[in-house]
Order: sequence, then C-alpha cells, then structure tokens
Amino acid sequence: MGMNSKVRILTGITTTGTPHLGNYVGAIRPAIAASGKPDAESFYFLADYHALVKCDDPARVQRSTLEIAASWLACGLDPKKVYFYRQSDIPEIPELTWLLTCVTAKGLLNRAHAYKATVDANRAAGEDADAGITAGLYMYPVLMAADILIFNAHKVPVGRDQIQHIEMARDIGQRFNHIYGGDFFALPEAVIEENVATLPGLDGRKMSKSYNNTIPLWLPAKELRKAILGIVTNSLAPGEAKNPDDSNIFSIYQAFASADETAAMRQAFADGIGWGDAKQKLFERIDAELAPMREQYDTLVARPERIEEALRAGALRARGLATPLLAQLRHAAGLRDLTLGAQEKTKKEHAKKWSQDAIKQFRNSDGTFGFKLVAGVPSKRTIFESIGFKDARACGEAIAFLRRAYRDEHALAIRGSGHEWELVLLRDGQVIGSNRATTEDRLKGVRILIHQICEGLEED
Ligand code: TRP
Repeated sequence: MGMNSKVRILTGITTTGTPHLGNYVGAIRPAIAASGKPDAESFYFLADYHALVKCDDPARVQRSTLEIAASWLACGLDPKKVYFYRQSDIPEIPELTWLLTCVTAKGLLNRAHAYKATVDANRAAGEDADAGITAGLYMYPVLMAADILIFNAHKVPVGRDQIQHIEMARDIGQRFNHIYGGDFFALPEAVIEENVATLPGLDGRKMSKSYNNTIPLWLPAKELRKAILGIVTNSLAPGEAKNPDDSNIFSIYQAFASADETAAMRQAFADGIGWGDAKQKLFERIDAELAPMREQYDTLVARPERIEEALRAGALRARGLATPLLAQLRHAAGLRDLTLGAQEKTKKEHAKKWSQDAIKQFRNSDGTFGFKLVAGVPSKRTIFESIGFKDARACGEAIAFLRRAYRDEHALAIRGSGHEWELVLLRDGQVIGSNRATTEDRLKGVRILIHQICEGLEED
C-alpha cells in the first residue's frame, strides 16, 4: 500500500542457536550498519515460530531468543530507530499465514527445496517419502511469506538458500492480490549481500551451525583465544612465506581489520609470520572489536527484563502497521462485520472507505475551534476529539503537534485503571484531546487507528 515512500527492509533470524562470528560478520554487523540509512525503514525480528519447525526443545528456543536479541542490542541496534520484535508477539502473522495458506497452491509447496531435500533423503534411505516431515516444515514458506507481506517489505536480505522462499512470498502475495482484487501487498525482492564476507569456520568450510565448526560470538576472551588457536592451517613453518589468499586465518582477519591492517598482515604472510603469531594477532583484532560489546551483552543477558521490554515495545509499534492491514485483508476475504452492507464488496468502494480517514476541524457552539479524527475502517466514526481552542490557528497548531508526536507514547498516552481508561493527547503536560473506554485494549486499538490516519496523511 502506498502509505509510506521509504524502502522497507526486513529480515528474520531463526532462534535455534547461539550467535557465532559468522552471524556477526555476515548478518548482524551489516544489518546494523544499514539500519541507520534515512531512506529506509528496517524490520529485524526473531523468528521463533520458525524455530519450532526445527527444534522441539523449549529451553533452547527461549535461550536462543534471549541470546540473539541481546547480541543485536549489544552490537548497537537502536530499537527506537528500527522495528525490532519477536515474531510470536505479532498475532497478525499466524492469522495472515492462514489467509495465505488458502490461496497457496499445494504444488508450490511441493517444490520447496527444504521439503524436497527431506523427501529425497527419505526415498534414498528407502523410507516413506514423508517420514519425519511435519506439516510445519511443509508450511514454512507460507509463514515466511506472512512475515514479509504483513509489513509490505520491499527488500529482504537473506542467504542464497533463502532466495526460493522470497520468490514464493512474491508468488503468494501476488495470488492474494489477484484473487481479492487489490494491491494489498508489495512484492518483495531478495537482497544477496555480495560484498559481505562469509567466514570460514574452524575446519575451513563456511562457518555454520550445520557444520559444527563455529566460534561462538561471546566467548570470554581466554576461550576465544583458545578457539582461534584451534583453526586449521597448513603445516608451513615460521619463516616460510604463506599465501594469504588461501588462508582461513587471513580471511577472518580481513573481515575485522581495516584496509591498512589487512595490507600489513598480507606483508607479514609474505615475510613468513608463524601460524601461532598470526593467530595471536587475529585474536587481538577480533577481541578489540568485540570486548566492549561483550560487556554490554553480558549485562543484557543478566537482566533479561530490559530485552523483554524492548521486544514488547517493538511488537506494539510493529502491530501498529500490521493490525490495520490485517483488518483490510480480513474484510477483503469476507471475514466481515455482518452489519456492513453487501454494497461494500467491490474493491473501489473498499478503497473509498479507507480514504474516509481524516482529521476534521470544526467550530463549537461556544465559538471555540476543535478537531476530530474520523476513521473510515472498520466503520466510519469519530475516534478522537480535541478540547476547544480559542481560534483556528491554535487548533491548527494542536493538529500539527499530533502529527509530529503521535508515535510518542508519552504524548499519545493511555492511562487509567479498572473500567475507566482514557487515551489522551498531552502537550506540555496538558490534555488537548481524548477518548474514553472501559478497557485498555480498546484504546490500544484506537491508538493504532490514529497511527494509521496520521501515517496516511504523511504522504501529502
Ligand atoms: N527462514 C529464514 C532463515 O532460516 C529466517 C526467516 C524467517 C526469514 N522469516 C523470515 C528471513 C522472513 C527473511 C524474511 O534464515
């Protein structure tokens, strides 16, 4: 939907393992560097629903979620600048998964590499084709499509093994758009980072959990050093010239060092640096980069409540985008309020309904000026009203304030207790607009609609 002109970048991390140096160099570091760009909006999430497909050990899923979240935060991800959340905190994702499941061809899923590889392995072993295959593995691409489509992501940075999944997400999104006659979803593209290093692991193959050759990212310095000493090398002795371009030690060094440092190391290889010395230098270089973040990481892991809070806040913001889109999708598919007239069934009429979102100014009978927010969806109604202002200008300034501050939960705040709750717009501690309800949840829904209205207006 054309609500936003920024490029949306989204990626998920499956929460089944402990972050290692390869994850840091290949995913965490480049993603955090990219997240500062002003023309992009980034979404990074912990794919814990996906983790369940691969792992049925609850303690491991929980621990991995904690470790991965702490790693991203310790490495400098600013959760206020990006959307950083846990997949299972967004109920719109599994709900969309079902809507998408119903437009996805079974044949498309039959062709998924991961599923096919397991079937082939079963056949080769003389077993039943579907032995040990859960419906979760089979449905994996649809869940992943929902992750991407619910936020209308344009670019999805992934490894090569995931390209097919992004193509499937396009396919599924397009099918839904076609069947229900709307531009509900942007069609995502995979981004393969060509100039991001893939690190060799301890044995020289690509560092990967599946090869069991990783160096965990947050080893204490002593153990990190020990792990680095264990990287395989050839048997050339100190004093013999070594080829940096065929050395794991050099490749890893390069991924951490500046151009000057790399050139100096290249020279040291030519000059016959011993493997022990090269490994010591490699350890020192990596440790220099990681040590300050390691301290952060340890602090975060020791106090999980801070991470929990950041993730929940992230999910709330993300749902501000997901909830209105899902409402629209439900409507499109016919999961509707029964009091809505059948005349609303065409796409055009539906679009008109959304375009009824507005901020309206009016004059009160006592001569003061006010504004109200009108939501077109799910049915046209006033969802928020201001106090009276002495003139139109003061009223305009209050609207401008709302449009600047609506994302700030201190400005557009929910407060109350028991059965009395209010959503208030606070400027300099003064209430300049409000809505009341009997539950906090209701007002959270209202706040999401306000976000939607304000975001829709940002375009003009
Ligand atoms: N399947 C991805 C992986 O294993 C993780 C993932 C889940 C993901 N949902 C996603 C990646 C959405 C990108 C977008 O690496």
